[in-house]
Amino acid sequence: MQLQLISPLDMHLHLRQGDMLKNIAPLSSKYFAGALIMPNTTPPITTKEMVREYKKEILDATKGDNFTPYMTLFFKDYGYEFLKEIRDEILSIKLYPAGITTNSEGGVEKIDIDSLAPTLEAMSELNIPLCVHGESNGFVMDREAEFIPIYKRLAKAFPKLKIIMEHITTKEAARALQEEENLYATITLHHLYITLDDVAGGLLRPHLFCKPIAKRPEDKEALLELALNAHPKVMFGSDSAPHPRSAKEAPGCAAGVFTAPIALPLLAELFEKFDKLDNLQPFISLNATKIYNINPPQKMVTLVKEEFEVPISYNDVVPFKSGERVSWRVK
Ligand code: NCD
Ligand code: ZN
Repeated sequence: MQLQLISPLDMHLHLRQGDMLKNIAPLSSKYFAGALIMPNTTPPITTKEMVREYKKEILDATKGDNFTPYMTLFFKDYGYEFLKEIRDEILSIKLYPAGITTNSEGGVEKIDIDSLAPTLEAMSELNIPLCVHGESNGFVMDREAEFIPIYKRLAKAFPKLKIIMEHITTKEAARALQEEENLYATITLHHLYITLDDVAGGLLRPHLFCKPIAKRPEDKEALLELALNAHPKVMFGSDSAPHPRSAKEAPGCAAGVFTAPIALPLLAELFEKFDKLDNLQPFISLNATKIYNINPPQKMVTLVKEEFEVPISYNDVVPFKSGERVSWRVK
């Protein structure tokens, strides 16, 4: 049994820098036609020069793979002229509340619509989508749900701005998505597979710890409903976020799940299980091309229904489902 995917896209990906990037970027570029590259590097990507340099670093590491890195800027106050100049070199701008996750210290201190308005208005006029890490600083399980009113206010205040709710994890987010026309969302692989029980219900599984934290079974169900039906407002974004083993297996465990190399086989397994394989193509590519209005490189990826064992680690980064068997593999 075979499955052909045309130009798979990963619309939320962390590639890091330096040696880590060199090691892990090819694990995305082999299997995907393109990816939206997150800007939470150290320091974060905030200038045209940094966008260009970072893009070059990625292209060098993925040479020969016919892979398009769609670049992003780290949100701060940007003027209209600057944005107009950089418009063709980025696909979106990513907003992080300050300190909410890995390398987000320079994010927005207070999400106040009036103070963000000049930048958001410019983005709206220039058709630059806004990607958001939507979590409050409240109790960890409630952070995303508490952020929903902000999403709604933003959506109403800037009706022409496309707002992407990144890595949604709750039924509240799934509902909000359908209530405002200009809200869209990415869904990760791991949030379709796990709940908080998998992270901390038995032995603590640091490699499943990420932001936003995995939630309840009913939340996972709401995400599955959207993804498996390839709801046109959702697209795949792995949020694959590699950290060295020593940063994960530590008293203070870094947030992030590494899924890029096994994302396609595990999505195939999941969609097959629910008899929804026909919806994998729109979820993995078509929806994103429409939402972002992009035309990724033509790339055929063939999956075959053959068991493979997920490696224990890729260059000191432990992947999701490490050492487990998956029923599909990339040919
Ligand atoms: C991401 C990272 O490590 O950069 N971590 C995570 O838990 N998802 C940042 C992010 O997307 O929150
Ligand atoms: Zn992320």
